[in-house]
Amino acid sequence: MRTTWTFHSAVSLVFGRGAVRQLGDIVRRLPARRVFVVTDATLTKVGVLAAVNGPLKEADVEVGVFDGGEPEPSLSVLERCVEEARKFRPDAVLGLGGGSNMDVSKGTAALLTYAGKPQDYVGDDRIPGPVMPVVCVPTTAGTGSEVTAAAVFTVPENHVKVGVLSNYLRPRVAVVDPQLTHSCPRKVTADSGIDALTHAIEAYTAVDNEEFPLPTGERSVYQGRHPLGEMCAEQAIRLIGKHLKQAVQHGDDADAREGMALAATVAGLSFSNIGVALVHALEYPLGGATHCSHGEGNGLLLPHVMRFNLPARKAEFARIAGWLGEDVRGLSEDAAAERAVAAVERLQVDIGIPQRLHDLGAKQDQLREFAEKAFTIKRILRVNPRPVTADDCEAIYRSAW
Ligand SMILES: NC(=O)c1ccc[n+]([C@@H]2O[C@H](COP(=O)([O-])OP(=O)(O)OC[C@H]3O[C@@H](n4cnc5c(N)ncnc54)[C@H](O)[C@@H]3O)[C@@H](O)[C@H]2O)c1
Ligand SMILES: [Zn+2]
Repeated sequence: MRTTWTFHSAVSLVFGRGAVRQLGDIVRRLPARRVFVVTDATLTKVGVLAAVNGPLKEADVEVGVFDGGEPEPSLSVLERCVEEARKFRPDAVLGLGGGSNMDVSKGTAALLTYAGKPQDYVGDDRIPGPVMPVVCVPTTAGTGSEVTAAAVFTVPENHVKVGVLSNYLRPRVAVVDPQLTHSCPRKVTADSGIDALTHAIEAYTAVDNEEFPLPTGERSVYQGRHPLGEMCAEQAIRLIGKHLKQAVQHGDDADAREGMALAATVAGLSFSNIGVALVHALEYPLGGATHCSHGEGNGLLLPHVMRFNLPARKAEFARIAGWLGEDVRGLSEDAAAERAVAAVERLQVDIGIPQRLHDLGAKQDQLREFAEKAFTIKRILRVNPRPVTADDCEAIYRSAW
């Protein structure tokens, strides 16, 4: 039984419209003079790289750029980035993009600091100590990677995704400028936004910290639900209920974009301390095989997993329904909890998340294999409020197929 809990974050968080203009100062104070920016061709094209480069150059910071980032990056993208970074000899790494580029930047900082291959650090708490300073500048409102301890990669040979988890991977500074998300296309806004909702709902309904089943001798950055993580999750859910649909349907609405940027970061603070659970465990084999985006896989599975977890977390789901804008006055707890599932299903439709696994290209005869793979991801399954078997995983996939 655990009686204390901890809360970890990026060391500093700079939030607000135009925040990137402070990047020169921020980097000089790390202190750093040579920064290696990890980004991708799309962000270069839409002018986001220029928005970051300008303030850095004005502060006389030398900038090297890797623009070979890809969505759901493989370990080989990480290796290519590290190779380029080594040539540049940076004293800080800057991740510019959605979760994909930010995760590559975090992995790059670790591999520039310690010898070895990416695979050596896959798993929970395997990075030996502090890494080169990382500054993360998110351009989606989704993963929260700018404050989290995780970096996620695809292993194409095995059709799976793997995570490197360590509090040493938390960025030194998160610079969250909602204006950078305005160029996000509708699908990216929807997928990343529902990923943030998944983070917040999985954290809010997680197993309690006192009951977190961590086997003796094992270490984990996740610790189950605790009061501060829970507060962050609640605020994230409220913000997403208010802003996600609008951000998807009217991408130029600055208030909606700002609300979602805050929600994603706060959801990241929550889940990176409490943990994510069954939705994420089920998404990893699905995403590894079908190459759907992390957000659309999660968004599709979320209501199915909520229904599975409902008996264990009725009061929580009843509150979530209200935060998502459902009128639950006068309803029984059971009926109000059901409304949370209905609210997420409606949101899925409103923002265009696919409804069925076969729409993502999953085949019915793959579902057992997915279930067996998901069942091995104990580090997140132990966060789930209801115990899960491989058969349960398969049944959930079938209900979503
Ligand atoms: N580290 C973590 O804590 C964590 C948490 C959740 C998910 N993830 C990982 O993050 C990845 C998903 O990240 P994501 O949802 O942010 O999407 P992403 O980073 O994969 O980006 C998706 C696409 O959107 C484009 N894009 C991003 N911002 C844009 C902008 N402002 N304008 C135009 N185009 C833009 C990118 O170029 C890319 O093509 C997955 O690999 C997932 O596993 C990591
Ligand atoms: Zn996620």
